[in-house]
Order: sequence, then structure tokens, then C-alpha cells
Amino acid sequence: MRKPFVAGNWKMNKTVAEARELVFNLNKQLSEVAGVEKVLCPPFPSLVAVSGLLEGTDIGLGAQNMHWEEKGAFTGEVSPGMVKEFCGYVILGHSERRAYFGETDESVNRKLIAAQKIGLTPIVCVGETLEQYESNRTSEVVARQTSLGLKDIDPAFASRIVVAYEPVWAIGTGKASTADNANAVVKDIIRPELARLFGNETAQAIRVLYGGSVTAANAAEYFAQPDIDGALVGGASLKVDEFVAITKAAAK
Ligand code: 13P
Repeated sequence: MRKPFVAGNWKMNKTVAEARELVFNLNKQLSEVAGVEKVLCPPFPSLVAVSGLLEGTDIGLGAQNMHWEEKGAFTGEVSPGMVKEFCGYVILGHSERRAYFGETDESVNRKLIAAQKIGLTPIVCVGETLEQYESNRTSEVVARQTSLGLKDIDPAFASRIVVAYEPVWAIGTGKASTADNANAVVKDIIRPELARLFGNETAQAIRVLYGGSVTAANAAEYFAQPDIDGALVGGASLKVDEFVAITKAAAK
């Protein structure tokens, strides 16, 4: 049995003051949802404040990115150790980082190995662009991102990895993938690739999320799918009622 998992990726939204307010408003209702692993991923400057507010709750904290090196002359970067001070999770390889900041399967893999080394639970994002989707390359792209991104990982650590399937054409567009399509990608592309890397038992233990225009209105359709174990939520994670409703839907 894979425990349902819901994470909110706030992206580049909320000052520290706004983050405090959002978490203050979310905390009680979110804490009351049992049976779901819940994670908030605010921007770096808010991690300290939010970690304080989440103390004593069962809500986890994640960063949206990190560098793979331990320290040194990497201006503007944040190390795994700096993330680990406050967080248990880290999002790696989000499509916006791949598209705008030069993230590649190789850099995702380096970061994943760094997460393994320091003991952070990674949320690794994969997904095809609109152009790739329209030219029927979903399978090739998602299989490659999975196999190269997750290579050289210890099978013992692998079961802790969370994979998020986020078709780029569905992110922030309001054009969510159908639940059937998302489930098919997870079942026919991602899990077989995970099985090749880590064996079938581990592949069946790894949580795979759907992300891309998930809302309170459509979340239950995804969670009803046998191979989808939760959601990586963008825009709707900034709204208390929406995010709580999505998390409740995952608990059912
Ligand atoms: P939206 O939910 O805003 O489409 O974003 C999805 C996403 O990119 C989460 O990482």
C-alpha cells in the first residue's frame, strides 16, 4: 500500500509575511487530514519561518530546488545541507527549472544523488512539453527523464523517492490531463522504467503523483486512478480551501 502524498509547490509566490499568513490559515485544517503525507514547498526565504510554524504538526516542509555541491563558490545557489537544516523534502527537476534555468537529466541526477547522500526525500518531476506531446513523443521523453534522472541510485533509497508526472502542457494552463491519460503514462511508462532501474517490488512501492492544473474540483478523479498516488499542486496550493479540499480527496 502506497500512502497518498500531496505537496504544494508555491513556486515564486509569497513574501515571508504572506507565507506566514498562509501557513497560519492552513495549519489547523491541514493537520486534521489523516492518512496523507502532506508537504509545503515555499520559496527559500520563507523556509525558516514556515518550519517554525509547522513544528509539532505532521505537515512536512520542502524546498523547490537545490545545488548538488556541499558548499563553495556557487553564487546564488543553496546547498543540500542548507535545505536539510529546515526541510525533509526537495523538489528536483521541475519543468520550469528545465525550461528556464538549464536543468538537465544529468543535473537532476546529480541533485538526486546529493539528496540521497544527505537524506532528503526527493520529489522528482518528469513530463513532456506540448510539442513533444503533439508529436507522440511522450513515452520516449518521460522514459528518458526517468531512467537518466534516477540512475545510479541505491535501490534501498529508491523506495523513498516520490516521482511527479507533470505534463508541461497542463501546468498553469487550466488544461489538466485527463485522469486516464495521466494514469496510463504512470502505469505504462514510469513504473516500468522504475522496475528496470530498481526491480518490480521497489517500483510498486514508489509514490507517483500527477501535477498540472489540479484543483479541488478535479483532484478526486486522479486519486481514483490505481497508479496515481497523489498530487503536486501549484496554483491551487496557494488557496487554503482548495489545498485542504485536495488533501482531503487524497485521504479517501
Ligand atoms: P499548477 O497546479 O499551477 O498547474 O502547477 C503544477 C505544478 O507545476 C506543480 O509543480
